[in-house]
Amino acid sequence: MSNPIDRDRLADLLVRERELYRERNPESQTLYGQATNLFGGVPMTWMNKWSGGFPLYFKTAHGNRIVDVDGHEYIDFALGDTGAMAGHSPLASTSAITSRIVVDGGITTMLPTAAAQWVGAELTRRFGLPLWSFTLTATDANRWAIRLARLATGKSKILVFSYCYHGSVDEIFAIPDAQGVAVARPGNVAPPVPLDHTTRVVEFNDLVALERELAHGDVAAILAEPAMTNIGIVLPEPGYLEGMRKLATEYGALLMIDETHTFSAGPGGMTMRDGLEPDIFIIGKSIGAGIPSGAYGLTQELADKILQHPEADIIDVGGVGGTLAGNPLSLTAMKATLESVLTDDAFEYMISLCDTYTNDVQALIERYDIPWSISQIGARAEYRFVTPAPTNGTDSAAAADDELDEFMHLYMCNRGILMTPFHNMALMCPDTTVEDLAVHAELFEQALVELRGL
Ligand SMILES: Cc1ncc(COP(=O)(O)O)c(C=O)c1O
Repeated sequence: MSNPIDRDRLADLLVRERELYRERNPESQTLYGQATNLFGGVPMTWMNKWSGGFPLYFKTAHGNRIVDVDGHEYIDFALGDTGAMAGHSPLASTSAITSRIVVDGGITTMLPTAAAQWVGAELTRRFGLPLWSFTLTATDANRWAIRLARLATGKSKILVFSYCYHGSVDEIFAIPDAQGVAVARPGNVAPPVPLDHTTRVVEFNDLVALERELAHGDVAAILAEPAMTNIGIVLPEPGYLEGMRKLATEYGALLMIDETHTFSAGPGGMTMRDGLEPDIFIIGKSIGAGIPSGAYGLTQELADKILQHPEADIIDVGGVGGTLAGNPLSLTAMKATLESVLTDDAFEYMISLCDTYTNDVQALIERYDIPWSISQIGARAEYRFVTPAPTNGTDSAAAADDELDEFMHLYMCNRGILMTPFHNMALMCPDTTVEDLAVHAELFEQALVELRGL
């Protein structure tokens, strides 16, 4: 059993880091104070999650570097919480985007371009599914695919995992009560109906509970990240994903795999790496280098079932689709990014960097006898303030530590490193270097030395 953190020392360190953050960032603080016409003072309310009382305002972002309005340069390991996994404004993507919108013209038209077929074929090469449809966000892809799953199966419920996140999708904000019935997760904003009307929920890595809930016979789809990434990283135990696939088939539920974040596992995500066989595949965020882009993939068998329902309007206003979805700008961005930036070679490099990052952090956790753990999925890694690493969402949620979280974010930020808000996640992009990792390792060690009072 490692030594716990001294909470008094942590409280003092936190006061110091907050003060330093305010001193370093007067321009950001002024801009934040002036944003009285924005709801919550920010362009999107979640930007208030930034540690230190106000967010950094940034001026420029290239590769894995961000420069803020007070003139500080940062090594960015947040990378837009995966939206910028290709690096900020990668040249191949920005050249294609600029050419599309300035030279060819046409940001949105209601007409297809040939880029969609190229992207569809590339997504098939990577993830296996033969048929693709495009969205602007992973949230949209999940929402629309859920409707299609209900249509195809004639079943009403979506099965999710306690403390999962798949975007602002009504069905997913559930945790099980003492009887295993889905109830709204704390903080869920005005759900349209009680969660047990739409949702079944179990803990990740529990095949017994999964089978018990599927046995009700009303689950249209299991919606899963193959490793949870939004409550720390929770990795699947050996055999778990195979068991999930088997049970889905046995009980007539579709398997919906959301690789919006776990795409970090490799060019074909965990689906290619681990030979997963989803009926529906979801991706978003990174594939358009930050231009709003998402996609869902379907098996031929599922598409055939969907098309057996002429009463369902999937062409006009039946609840699937958005005017700007599949627009030429988004598809151009996806084509360039997949073709030239997030390539097979790039993943090999990014993953090797992340191996080093993870090994460095693990070694320091051990050297300073700190009760934390780190988990890695290819090019992303995240440390959690508990050891061993949790095996389900509820245990991982229980390990949350807001003070340590704020301390680590501010300690890094005050010294030139950005970690992902909401997580202690670090993501590698094609522009990250071994020198950047060395800077992080040194700062991480200094932070542990301070926490230990050495
Ligand atoms: C696994 C997963 N799916 C979907 C989403 C939703 O992505 P977006 O907010 O871009 O729609 C997220 C966002 O964090 C996610 O982590």
